[in-house]
This record gives sequence, C-alpha cells and structure tokens, in this order.
Amino acid sequence: MRLLVTGGAGFIGSNFTRMALKNKPDWEVTVLDKLTYAGRRENLEDLETDPRFTFVLGDICDEKAVSQAMEGCDTVVNFAAETHVDRSIDDASSFVRTDIEGVRVLLEEFRKEKRQLFLQISTDEVYGSVEQGNSLETDQLAPRSPYAASKAGGELLAMSYWTTYGVPVTVTRASNNYGPFQYPEKLIPLFITNAMTGEPLPLYGDGLNRRDWLFVEDNCNALIMVVEKSEPGRIYNIGAGQEYNNREVTSSIPEITGADKSLVRYIEDRPGHDRRYALNVSLIEKEIGWKASTGFGEGLRKTVDWYSRNSVWWQKVKSGEFREYYLSMYHDRLTNSRESK
Ligand code: NAD
Ligand code: TYD
Repeated sequence: MRLLVTGGAGFIGSNFTRMALKNKPDWEVTVLDKLTYAGRRENLEDLETDPRFTFVLGDICDEKAVSQAMEGCDTVVNFAAETHVDRSIDDASSFVRTDIEGVRVLLEEFRKEKRQLFLQISTDEVYGSVEQGNSLETDQLAPRSPYAASKAGGELLAMSYWTTYGVPVTVTRASNNYGPFQYPEKLIPLFITNAMTGEPLPLYGDGLNRRDWLFVEDNCNALIMVVEKSEPGRIYNIGAGQEYNNREVTSSIPEITGADKSLVRYIEDRPGHDRRYALNVSLIEKEIGWKASTGFGEGLRKTVDWYSRNSVWWQKVKSGEFREYYLSMYHDRLTNSRESK
C-alpha cells in the first residue's frame, strides 16, 4: 500500500508516519507538507534514510504539487491544516484556504483514478461546546471557532464526494491530542516548556474548560486501524474518555517537572471559548476494535520526558516566529493576570 500523508511534518502527521513505517513493513509513505510555521522537516529526520519514505515540499491547495505527490498512491490521509484556535480568531483566511479549499483540491485529484481510501482527519471541535453528555457521530455539527468551522467545512466537503461521486471517504474526529513533537503553542507543550524555563503558565478565564486528552500514539494506532478496516462513508470519533479541566491539567505539570506552582496565572479568556468537548467512542470500539491504552498520567509523564530530552528542538521552535506570536498573544494579558481565580 502506498499512502500520501499530507501535513506529515506536523505533530500528529509525523507521529503517524513514524508509526506506520515501523508497524506496517509493506506500507510506503509520501509526505506532502508546505512546512508552515507548524511543520518541520526535522520532525521526520530519523525516517529520511528509509527507502519506503519520500518527502515532497508543497501546498495542498496547489493542484500541480498535489497531482505529482499523489501519483501511485492508493490511500490519502489528510492531516494538513491550520490548527490553532487562537490564530484562527486573529485571522481566519489561511484556515478557510487550507482546511476547506485544500481538501477540495486533494479530493479532485483523488477521484481522477480508482483508489482505496481518502481519510479526512477532522476534530471533536466540529460538535461545538458540549455542556453535558458525549457527542455521537450522528449529532448535529455546531462549530463555534473559525478553526472548528473550517474543519467542519472540510469534512462535509469530503463526505459530499462520497455521496455525490462515490469517492471512498472516511472521516475521523479526534479529541485533544498531546505527546512528542507538538508545537508549543498548544496548552500542554506550552505549559511544559514554560515550566522548564520558569515562565508563567497562562490559564484562560476560570481554567475550568474541559477537554478529553488523547495520547498521540493512541490516536495514530486508531488511524492505522481505520486505514486498514474502515468501510467508505464512515465517521469515527476517537477519544480516550479522559476528561480533565484545564486547572487539573495545569497543576500536574509543576508536579511532574518540579517547577514552582506559583507560575500559574489566570489571564483574560479566549473569545467564544468552548467550555467542554466529550466523545462517545463506542462506534470505533465496536467496528474497528480500537480502544485507547495510555492513561493520562502515563502519557503526560512520557510527554514531559520527551520535552526534557529534546530541549534543543523546542528551544529552536520557540526562538523564531513563535516569539513574536507569544508576545502578541500573551504579553498584555499576562501584565493584567492574577495568581488565583
Ligand atoms: P500541526 O499544526 O502540528 O501540523 C499541521 C501540518 O500541516 C504542518 O506540518 C504544516 O506545515 C502542514 N500544512 C499546513 N498547511 C498546509 C498546506 N496548505 N499544505 C500542506 N501542508 C500544510 O497540526 P496537528 O496538531 O498535527 O493536527 C493534524 C490534523 O489533526 C489537523 O487536520 C487537525 O485539525 C487534526 N486534529 C488535531 C488535534 C490536536 O489535538 N492536535 C485533534 C483533533 C484533530
Ligand atoms: P488548546 O491546546 O489550544 O486546544 P483547543 O483549544 O483546540 O482545545 O487549548 C486547550 C485548552 O487549554 C482550551 O480550553 C484553551 C486552554 N488554554 C489555556 O488556558 N491557556 C493557553 O495558553 C492555551 C494555549 C490554551
């Protein structure tokens, strides 16, 4: 099987590519990635000498680049996306472009030939804020951030190619991932690396927003199994059922890193901040036979361990474009922050 993995130089895509090549000796992987601020070639460095691995620099919105990269591939796994909610609030244009138009370009190329599977990687954020209960795949979508709305557009477009043209599309909606190689703009890697350098841990609002935390390797295992087993036209939630509020997540970081607890600061909230996401995962358990196996404590310890062994990686990441982003996003809010809520 030959896979095209778009966005393979990012967080989940690089973990997926590494695990796929390790666990599936008969798979070949071509990564197509634009290397935006979030994508790094060095995330795939250890795979460069593998003859089953090819890297192509290119944009999923560029028809020519997509056509060349997809040649000979029977399966496409589309991770490529703009992914950070806070950035989407600042400017939604690249989100609409990559997360919707990019999906259209990929689907048009995909359907030129008979191929096996187009796996569109979506997110639990398409359900919107779920105050009670767990989202089912059949629930109505109610995205509330420009990021979530763009992802909902992308997956609806992908599914429309299944109903309209019979293109074999599957959609997965995972909960919040954490683990090695995550760009330190997201909560867990930002707080781990800030804790390691004695910088503040800026909690939004009252810190009581809840997420279901999924270790990235569990998600990648689920995706490999979905590639192997899914019928076209399916949608699968992927979650670990490990729900914590942001205060709980934050307090465990100084506990593991040994950092000072007083680094925690409460800052002005994110506009439209979704209170809670939670998934019902019985469909993927029943049809694909997958279940998350990493407990949150274990996954967090593994993640802290990875960031402490790879300080060169994140110090480099945090020195460039990131510094400007961090100042514009946090400087004023931290000046007006409080130690407790
Ligand atoms: P990421 O931001 O770490 O990586 C995104 C990758 O896509 C980068 O390598 C980037 O260079 C690439 N990319 C961006 N625009 C591109 C374009 N136009 N053409 C080609 N490549 C492009 O993201 P991630 O956290 O690894 O997320 C991967 C996918 O999983 C996304 O589709 C995201 O919506 C979805 N997802 C993420 C989470 C999570 O918790 N991180 C949860 C559920 C779903
Ligand atoms: P994030 O990692 O951005 O993922 P998402 O918004 O896609 O769920 O944020 C996870 C949670 O942590 C979310 O409730 C927002 C919150 N958060 C903070 O409190 N402070 C921060 O600096 C960041 C980045 C997130």
